[in-house]
Amino acid sequence: MTIGESITLAELELDPYPALARLRADEPVAHVPDLDMWLVTRWDDVVLVHDRPDLFTSATEPSWLNTVLGTNMLGSDGAEHRRLKDALQPSFTPTATGRWVAERLPVICDELIDAFDPAGVDLMTAYAEPIAVRALQDALGWDNASWQEIGEWTRGVCTGLANFANDPELATIAAAANEQSGASIRERVAPNLAHTGLSADEIVNNVRLCMSGGINEPRDGIALAVWALLSHPAAVAACRADESLWRNACEELFRWISPVATSTRQTTTEVEVAGTTIPAGALVAAVISSANRDERRWTDPDRYDLHRREGTHLAFSTGAHVCLGAWLGRSTVRVAVQRLFDRLPDLDLAGSPEAVEIRGFEFRGPVRLDVRPTG
Ligand code: HEM
Repeated sequence: MTIGESITLAELELDPYPALARLRADEPVAHVPDLDMWLVTRWDDVVLVHDRPDLFTSATEPSWLNTVLGTNMLGSDGAEHRRLKDALQPSFTPTATGRWVAERLPVICDELIDAFDPAGVDLMTAYAEPIAVRALQDALGWDNASWQEIGEWTRGVCTGLANFANDPELATIAAAANEQSGASIRERVAPNLAHTGLSADEIVNNVRLCMSGGINEPRDGIALAVWALLSHPAAVAACRADESLWRNACEELFRWISPVATSTRQTTTEVEVAGTTIPAGALVAAVISSANRDERRWTDPDRYDLHRREGTHLAFSTGAHVCLGAWLGRSTVRVAVQRLFDRLPDLDLAGSPEAVEIRGFEFRGPVRLDVRPTG
């Protein structure tokens, strides 16, 4: 049996890192029957997959992403992808969102912190999720729905994306979320983005993509960074002594536990990678979370190291499909984390670091994060 054949999705969901390390060492390009995909796990090969859309296309056939969300930029390639991305990119640049990050975001953080129960809160629901939703809402001027509604729709849209077995009950939940979010986006966001030249349908589909890709990740990023810091008290002390280190704290978190694990592509032809031949038309997962722990690229990669100075990670991907919301996403996480620690000098986990359940392969984050705001 190959290593790929021995790996299960259940194992990856629980903790992907031991299996990914085995693959990197001995089977860097592996077919995993349980996923029906080829996993590419070493840094150089993951970069190659992203850099060669002529060999590895995002416009997979069939496209689950396009089926569930409607045709969108991540399910497209070439000129069509560029047209969609160029239209939406200006809404997420530092110029468009920098003032929100500097002025409005700290106020939102403070309002949420002020509402914490001093006896204890789940940081995922009381802090990370509302901040992540508000960032997308405010970037798009999406003000005809509450953050709670958009959070609920996002869960529904993601249910649809994860419903590979076509469970009719889950399909109903997803259809309702698609319809309600679609109506709300059409009413408010589409007019705001009319100047982009995109049709209302194109705006709806791509904003749905931003919900699925741009809300859970900053949410998980905030919670994971807080967990990582509270599990490494010396790192918190160092950040408090030198506030420029908050940035490192969050970037190192994105490397150490990447909230998005893979980029899905399809081979356009038979391709050889690291000595293994992948057939034409195969689905390939370029495993970002594995590249971010590749021993060939990083020293002691399983360690969370606040002072690491080894260059950039791949958590926001690379190549044509590099994350549309990378600047906003990483800024939101950094400000939210720093603000929390600034406001709550005695913040602590409610239990031990090991008691926090962190789950998921493709999307990884804490199930909940119970903290005591006053220590
Ligand atoms: C903060 C944490 C975030 C992480 C870790 C993250 C990660 C990623 C990754 C890895 C990709 C590439 C997927 C691929 O190549 O298959 C991606 C693409 C994308 N992300 Fe993010 N993302 C984050 C935040 C956001 C935010 C805030 C938005 C909101 C606009 C967003 C919107 C998108 C979109 C639309 C794409 C597709 C881009 C394209 O196809 O060209 N992401 N993201």
